[in-house]
Amino acid sequence: MQTQILTITRPDDWHLHLRDGAALQAVIPFSARQMGRAVIMPNLKPPVVTVADALAYRERILAAVPAARNFQPLMTLYLTDRATPTLIREAKAAGIIACKLYPAGATTNSASGVCDLWALLPVLETMAQVGLPLLVHGEVTDEDIDIFDREAVFIERILFPLLQRLPELKLVFEHITTAEAAQLVTEASDQVAATVTPQHLLYNRNAILVGGIKPHYYCLPVLKRETHRSALLKAVSGKQAHKFFLGTDSAPHAQNNKESACGCAGIFSAFAGIELYAEAFEQVDALDKLQAFASENGPRFYGLPENSDTITLKKCARMVPASFAYGDQQLIPLRAQETIAWTLVE
Ligand code: DOR
Ligand code: ZN
Repeated sequence: MQTQILTITRPDDWHLHLRDGAALQAVIPFSARQMGRAVIMPNLKPPVVTVADALAYRERILAAVPAARNFQPLMTLYLTDRATPTLIREAKAAGIIACKLYPAGATTNSASGVCDLWALLPVLETMAQVGLPLLVHGEVTDEDIDIFDREAVFIERILFPLLQRLPELKLVFEHITTAEAAQLVTEASDQVAATVTPQHLLYNRNAILVGGIKPHYYCLPVLKRETHRSALLKAVSGKQAHKFFLGTDSAPHAQNNKESACGCAGIFSAFAGIELYAEAFEQVDALDKLQAFASENGPRFYGLPENSDTITLKKCARMVPASFAYGDQQLIPLRAQETIAWTLVE
């Protein structure tokens, strides 16, 4: 049998955590090798809340891009309760691509996130006016809501009312994990889109809990039941697939912070983002839909051109290393010491 070769327009990562300092240095070559651009998440410590913070962070990222690569970071601001319409106008003028909504306490470094979304209505109205998208971490944080239900409850209590109140707002429902989220995005206007991670397409919640606790499969929103994974695969390959695009949510944490009595949420997948997605699309016989998901739907939503070069993948199993260097620590990748069915050809 002939080796399967797949050449597609160079993809972009519309949801990426690059961190800062030594961690940034360690992880950026992986994204720069496959992606043309990436939307950079602002949940640093302290978070990226001003235009000056974002522009300075952008310079640090560009300085860390390996010389042979052409990789463009697209910067975001972290919304807090103190955000103002003036900040939004400044952000738009400075080329900031979007603002990220972290409900306070929802995930890693979200303590400064938004407590009362409705108090931010003037800010959101300004975003709609100037055409700055809102990127949403869609989970409620109420103690009495089960962690597996937090996305579905967010849709009911927050997202649905928000979309009704501000239909002109461009909104990306980030890293969706449920059939409910896939349905909402599928049925919404073209102002609404979603990113989907490789882990939510490839794994269900058994990956975290069967055979022992597996901290390297723990991320937020947490992996869900198999029915939800199937719904996501259907969404990215179905009739409304143009509303879904690639966002790895690759979120590196040092090994000791993951393998701990209170392990951090986040999965490091950037070393093989596109190969992992190829595996997922192949599972549902939809490799012909991979290019749109990885390289076309994101640029169209954001009003940017597609990348002008291509990448090539080969159906050839590749062993994932046990770990990568991460400053003076170690980073355990998704699928460490197992294989991935596809390999990016340099
Ligand atoms: O698993 C996650 N890790 N989910 C998030 O929302 C944040 C991310 C991180 O920054 O580590
Ligand atoms: Zn994220």
